[in-house]
Amino acid sequence: MDYVTFGRTGMSVSSIGLGTGGASRLGMGGGADERQAVEVIHRALELGITYFDTAKGYGTEAVVGDGLRGSRENIVLSTKAYASRDDGTLLSAAQFREEIEDSLRLLRTEMIDVYHLHRLALSEYDYAISEIFPVLERCREEGKIRFFGVSESTSQDADHAMLARAAAEGDFDVIMTGFNLFNQGARTRVFPDTIRNNIAVEIMGAARGPYSNPELLRAAVRQLIADGKLVHDSVDPRDPLGFLVGPGHAATLAEASYRLARYEPGVHVVLVGTGDVDHLEQNILSMQRGPLPDDDLDLVRERFGHLRVTRG
Ligand SMILES: NC(=O)c1ccc[n+]([C@@H]2O[C@H](COP(=O)([O-])OP(=O)(O)OC[C@H]3O[C@@H](n4cnc5c(N)ncnc54)[C@H](OP(=O)(O)O)[C@@H]3O)[C@@H](O)[C@H]2O)c1
Repeated sequence: MDYVTFGRTGMSVSSIGLGTGGASRLGMGGGADERQAVEVIHRALELGITYFDTAKGYGTEAVVGDGLRGSRENIVLSTKAYASRDDGTLLSAAQFREEIEDSLRLLRTEMIDVYHLHRLALSEYDYAISEIFPVLERCREEGKIRFFGVSESTSQDADHAMLARAAAEGDFDVIMTGFNLFNQGARTRVFPDTIRNNIAVEIMGAARGPYSNPELLRAAVRQLIADGKLVHDSVDPRDPLGFLVGPGHAATLAEASYRLARYEPGVHVVLVGTGDVDHLEQNILSMQRGPLPDDDLDLVRERFGHLRVTRG
């Protein structure tokens, strides 16, 4: 396992983090029980993973708390809460404070290393700074939170408007962004400023859906061609990423996707969301194979760099 300095937090973290949300939710999204989910966490610890991401909204904080029992001191723990309810009502400072206290209780910890505002919208940004930041600062003074983070909504903010502001203004220590084969927008919209401000960057959704499943990939490419977003001549719809996979290239589509994210300049941690320990092991090995070959990267940028696909 590689370890990196997590931007201006100064913490050392594994370059691969275990994500406990997404479709997988440690396998529980596909029917696994909590015992099996804890096994995934234990295997991640054995493999040297020290970064674990959860959220109030995933319903996995309690299981993460269980899985990390006895290992907490070597771990960097990340969680999140929304600044607004589903109906758009913004949380008051007191309500947000309750979210933090709930997370501490569910995670069975006295301190959260990175507390994110979850899927913050650009329209909520000013409110977050004026009303939520004082709560975060109070919790930091009380030793309950170490660093502040923010994650975007990949479906509602595919062009990274909120994170472009967060990166430029430097309010947060950590940001979580979508970056994948069909949305490489953060390279120009976000990373130049996170690098300038030494903000730690986590990648979510690098291999979800079409980026690890060839069937879904073909369907996504057919749709992009039909929508006029991909030029037919530039891709083979039967095997659109065939040029990335094979001898001298990545071994699988998932490997190509994770290597693309892991070696993008400015990225610190790639989150892997899985309920399958074999996938976890494969993904760690994949990312140890280094950056994609230069010619492959050039093609990925040339053919797909203009896309802003909202969700895998
Ligand atoms: N806005 C936000 O704040 C936000 C949004 C999304 C995600 N996140 C965070 O980011 C984490 C990662 O995102 P993600 O869940 O989309 O994860 P991801 O790692 O990009 O994709 C996970 C999907 O890929 C599959 N997969 C993983 N490795 C594979 C392999 N080697 N071969 C084939 N399929 C493979 C998984 O299925 P298996 O279970 O079968 O392996 C799962 O369906 C989340 O868990 C969460 O912590 C945050």
